[in-house]
Amino acid sequence: MSIERVFVAGAGLMGHGIAQVHAVIGKRVTLYEPDIARADAGRARVAGNLERAVAKGRMTGQEREAVLGRLTATDDLGAAADADLVVEAVFEDVDVKTALWASLDAVAPADAIFASNTSSIAIDRLAASVGEGRRARFAGMHFFSPVPVMPLIELIRGSATDDATEAAIRDLAAELGKQVIVSADRPGFIVNRILMPFLGEAMRAYEEGLGTAEDIDTGARVGLNHPMGPLELADFIGLDVCLGIMRVLHEGFGQAQFAPPAILEQLVADGHLGQKTGQGFHRYPR
Ligand code: CAA
Repeated sequence: MSIERVFVAGAGLMGHGIAQVHAVIGKRVTLYEPDIARADAGRARVAGNLERAVAKGRMTGQEREAVLGRLTATDDLGAAADADLVVEAVFEDVDVKTALWASLDAVAPADAIFASNTSSIAIDRLAASVGEGRRARFAGMHFFSPVPVMPLIELIRGSATDDATEAAIRDLAAELGKQVIVSADRPGFIVNRILMPFLGEAMRAYEEGLGTAEDIDTGARVGLNHPMGPLELADFIGLDVCLGIMRVLHEGFGQAQFAPPAILEQLVADGHLGQKTGQGFHRYPR
């Protein structure tokens, strides 16, 4: 099936980027938040990103206007009624996600594909919130931040996901210029299963005074050629998001390497969530 109309639920860090990349390749995109101010803010973030692209000569002003013309912000879930694809990118909380999917199931066309951008929650657990007939068209479509820059999509098949749904997502990923990897439906999938123990170990090393945050990050940047050190990457992803993913991994596997470090719990409890609050392992702007 061809995907032309995309409904993106959640206009935050991931949702606005997901909306942007689809609008850029010509899809008609609706960006939803229950609070219209947040939906508008997501669209404004896209406008800002496109403005930078124009300033850098990667897009004309006319193209920017055309992309924005294809992107509508809404607080009306009913706007999913004509969607070919619904992508959910709301906070990593199973209850929030399942309630939203159940509501979307009631309004979206019966043949629409449902894709969750969950970074750790089992697809089968989310798919259980929609009618049995929909589950063949329910999958995980995990993007990476910043979405316009990172060329990967992790595709997760639930136990009911059918081949046509995988094929449609693969075709769309090719249109988006993104590479697909397929993960089994297990906690954290492939990338976060690898990433979170690394970030967690860097946090534990910092906690025990092995080195400064700056030196730990420089170690990975200069010694391993990573674009960001693990502590700045955690700040970039969001410490609350990292904590949520580590909890899911630890709950799922029980092994010590997945346990959230005490310092991460403490920073989140203190409201220091990384870049977005101006403080995490580092202070921002740096
Ligand atoms: N949105 C859109 N574009 C952005 C951007 C953003 N937030 N941030 C940077 N860019 C673009 C810039 O416009 C620039 O584009 P051009 O080269 O075309 O001009 C390009 O990215 C490079 O940006 P900068 O030169 O400003 O900065 P940089 O070279 O330091 O790169 C970075 C920034 C791309 C973020 C780089 O540091 C990086 O790759 N970091 C690691 C990111 C990463 O690991 N992401 C995955 C996180 S895990 C995840 O998302 C999944 C999960 O479930 C937790």
